[in-house]
Amino acid sequence: MCGIIAYAGKNNATDCIYEGLKNLEYRGYDSAGIAVKRGDDIFVCKREGRVKNLEEGINGVRGRFAIGHTRWATHGKPSDRNAHPHFVGGFYVVHNGIIENYAELKAELLAEGRSFFSETDSEVIPHLINKYYEGDLLCAVALAVRRLKGSYALCIMHENFSGVIAVCNKSPAILGYGKGEYFVCSDAPAIADMAEEICVLCDGDIAVITEKSVKIYNDRLELQVRERVANFASKASLDLGDCPHYMLKEIKEIPTAVQNTITACEAVDLQKLSAFLQGVDKVVLTGCGTAFHTCLIAKDWVEEFCSLCAVAETAGEWRYKKSPVNEKTLVVAVSQSGETADTLEAARLAKKYGARVIAITNVGYSAITRIADFTIPVVAGAEICVAATKSYCAQLISLWFLIAVLAKVNASTYEQLFKRAYTMPQLCEKTINGLSLDALCEKIKEASGVYFIGRGLDCAVAKEGSLKLKEVSLKPGEGYASGELKHGTLALIDKSTYSVAVMSDENLCEKNLSAIKQITARGGKVAAVCSCKEYIKKLLSVCDFVISIPKCDRALSPIISVLPLQYIAYKVAVLCGCDPDKPRNLAKSVTVE
Ligand code: G6P
Repeated sequence: MCGIIAYAGKNNATDCIYEGLKNLEYRGYDSAGIAVKRGDDIFVCKREGRVKNLEEGINGVRGRFAIGHTRWATHGKPSDRNAHPHFVGGFYVVHNGIIENYAELKAELLAEGRSFFSETDSEVIPHLINKYYEGDLLCAVALAVRRLKGSYALCIMHENFSGVIAVCNKSPAILGYGKGEYFVCSDAPAIADMAEEICVLCDGDIAVITEKSVKIYNDRLELQVRERVANFASKASLDLGDCPHYMLKEIKEIPTAVQNTITACEAVDLQKLSAFLQGVDKVVLTGCGTAFHTCLIAKDWVEEFCSLCAVAETAGEWRYKKSPVNEKTLVVAVSQSGETADTLEAARLAKKYGARVIAITNVGYSAITRIADFTIPVVAGAEICVAATKSYCAQLISLWFLIAVLAKVNASTYEQLFKRAYTMPQLCEKTINGLSLDALCEKIKEASGVYFIGRGLDCAVAKEGSLKLKEVSLKPGEGYASGELKHGTLALIDKSTYSVAVMSDENLCEKNLSAIKQITARGGKVAAVCSCKEYIKKLLSVCDFVISIPKCDRALSPIISVLPLQYIAYKVAVLCGCDPDKPRNLAKSVTVE
């Protein structure tokens, strides 16, 4: 959700920023921009659209310091004019986040005779720095950010300053330390292989980066010491290899992501986690998008294996409810990025109300880990495609681990339960290798709407399948409980529609079969995803297409049954001419509320 990057060092800043921006593009692709300090003047290039649109404009530009931005538009449409950096009086700023009080600040600045060039909230920032500048950039920045309400990660340059200033407040900013060069960026993979170490800035931090040093201050300009850790992100994780898109590459990486997450979970301090879970009498699971769908599945697991009441709610809803929580409530916040604004706020509120908070995240240094009491790792590796795939499967393993420990606390056995996941990496591999869905995808491409149905755990998988297809192929549709079909969606079914029925629980197959017949009776075509051998024959006589998936542990089936749906979404997107990695209007790491 907007990517920011800055460079100070011995190499050509333009090249480093351009490289970093390409790596950050999944955070927003409405426009891109760069400002490079060349001697006393600052060169700026801003373009609507993708980062590659900058290439011609920045060709041959050299400098030691630079800042860059890739935008996901919030205030003002995507355009060259609204692209960052924004600049006023020699001050250049890139911003990720939202300035909530920008309207009143803008009114104040306009009344002082200043004029604005863009429609963005961000443009108030260089104006404020300019207003407070009396020869010391650090002081001017500190005074300016005191006026801001909202979330912001900023990189700032000035004509008379040989360096960059970075500011962090409720939006991610990471310092990178290379050999004779320093970086600031929104996410460590952006500087993979350029920075050997990273340091995560805390809210209120102001960092001054020159060619020779990095100094970090708090908002009262007192020097701070922050821990530096190795940058484990590697360029290899960003390489597409033989795959045409990240989405396909990441689906193929699912067996490894699942295996690595099993291994990482088994390294978690079991005693500490068990002690932390002692006395929990209710579980709230929260997240956004795909992460929320894993919460829906884990909710059923908590009820079945831990005999506890559980609630699954999107973070954007839960945070505005008066949900009864106390010190016996466990709030589980699930987020691939660990930076999604609504999920962070839900976790903060849970802490405020005295609940115990566990984070389930793929990014070990992310903001959510600093809010939560306990973090259970997800080891999916860098996920670049905006649509989450491998992180969904790996999150389910981490949640399964948590539920196994919680079940133990509630008198079952952790080992027996968790080891049921051991076969999942091989089953994922077998399923992915067995997919032969191109003919089906050609038919789905022609459908006017695509509806996914399922019962029990399969209902959450149906919702995830629908979300994936919608976002990457722009095909309208819905994912819902099979039993709800006759209460509304059946009205939409005709011969131009396609439905996908997920059936991995043999106890529910008969019921699903009758839902399928309700669809075919209205002329709708159906593809069934089924692991129950005895039903395949019956399904072949009713359905247009049958996807046979390997039989697996019933509880863990959502890790397998989602795989054909992810592939369908990918392939239909490609057939429809969409870029599956960068869905229209969307972005990864939604750091705005
Ligand atoms: C965005 C992405 C989704 C993702 C959701 C939550 O909407 O497009 O793929 O599931 O954010 O992200 P998180 O990082 O919190 O899991």
